Amino acid sequence: MIKLIKSSFYREAETKRALAEFVLSQDILSMNEQCRAFEKAFAAKQERRYAVFVANGSVANLLLIQALLNSGRLQRGGRIGFSALTWPTNVMPLIQLGLEPVAIDCEMDTLNVSPETLEEHVTGLRALFLTNVLGFCDDLPALRKLCDDQGVLLIEDNCEALGSRTDRTLLGNFGLASTFSFFVGHHMSTIEGGMVCTDDEELYDHLVMSRAHGWDRDLSPATRARMRTEAGVDDFYARYTFYDLASNFRPTEINGFIGNQQIRYWDEIVDRRVANFGRFCAAMARNADFQGYDLAHMDTVSNFSMPVVCRTPELARKYRAEFEAAGVEIRPVIAGNILQQPFYRKYVRNTSERPNAHLVHTNGFYFGNNPEMTEDELTTLCDLLDG
Ligand SMILES: Cc1ncc(COP(=O)(O)O)c(C=O)c1O
Repeated sequence: MIKLIKSSFYREAETKRALAEFVLSQDILSMNEQCRAFEKAFAAKQERRYAVFVANGSVANLLLIQALLNSGRLQRGGRIGFSALTWPTNVMPLIQLGLEPVAIDCEMDTLNVSPETLEEHVTGLRALFLTNVLGFCDDLPALRKLCDDQGVLLIEDNCEALGSRTDRTLLGNFGLASTFSFFVGHHMSTIEGGMVCTDDEELYDHLVMSRAHGWDRDLSPATRARMRTEAGVDDFYARYTFYDLASNFRPTEINGFIGNQQIRYWDEIVDRRVANFGRFCAAMARNADFQGYDLAHMDTVSNFSMPVVCRTPELARKYRAEFEAAGVEIRPVIAGNILQQPFYRKYVRNTSERPNAHLVHTNGFYFGNNPEMTEDELTTLCDLLDG
């Protein structure tokens, strides 16, 4: 069986041994030094000023939207563009927090939103919450320029694209902020885990407050002192003073420790996924049954699953059956066309079609791209793709 998720983390045996020793040696396992060290290391590696570690990628998205509302950068009711081909917990926070989602279709050759498709919907948008789908992107510099020109706040859901680069820049560094997932099977695993990155100090302060109850404990001493003075609270009441809407999205020291172990392998993990991706693409290019990709504008494509889009629904049925018969675990291409999901139809009135996301939904599937795949597994997958 070639499973979608092959192991809990990269180099599983040594990571588990180190984790066992760590747990036995620690008194404090709630968010503490390991989490802080992981945030610092991640911010450095992602080339961002700030990183806020949270319990998973879904709450990273929820937290980011909450912090943008709390800081006044978004207002309830605002129209927010998002990628029609995405994961549900990219768009769910928009609905949960009273914003109006506007689905933007993908291009077939990048599976991502392009400046051309954004242009069709850009009027009246307050923000674009872009998903960098499965490590791919469209013309991100042009998307950023269009957003800047139109006064649209760009934020990136980078949960599927850690390590990918275009224009010599890491994906996740094109907007005001970006989110990441460290769920098992993603590029880098902390079992469960997520991150929000930004260079903006004010947004960072809102993120750390909204991550934990809305209190001021994780702010800098100077910001804490200013807020306490403004709210008129003394040091005793400051312990239980809550400044803004929040929840509890904290990770644990266990997740932080694993993050510090795994981040050492960031480059190795990305390189191996890139190499696998190259082999899958070469095999796909020899087979006219598949939709080809145009990713020449990307410097690095780092994905954790390989999307395959067939030219017809019949071909999709044929290849899905062949992959499954060969023992390969496959899934739809993320949530497929989000407009067809029951939750979306329940809460969003405007569900007019997005034809390309629909095609990916009906004609697509994906299989895992794992950095620890064996040569036999890679050969099996390439043979299946060869047709
Ligand atoms: C684009 C995208 N956003 C958000 C998430 C949510 O991440 P998590 O599973 O860590 O909650 C995922 C998960 O796969 C995703 O693909």
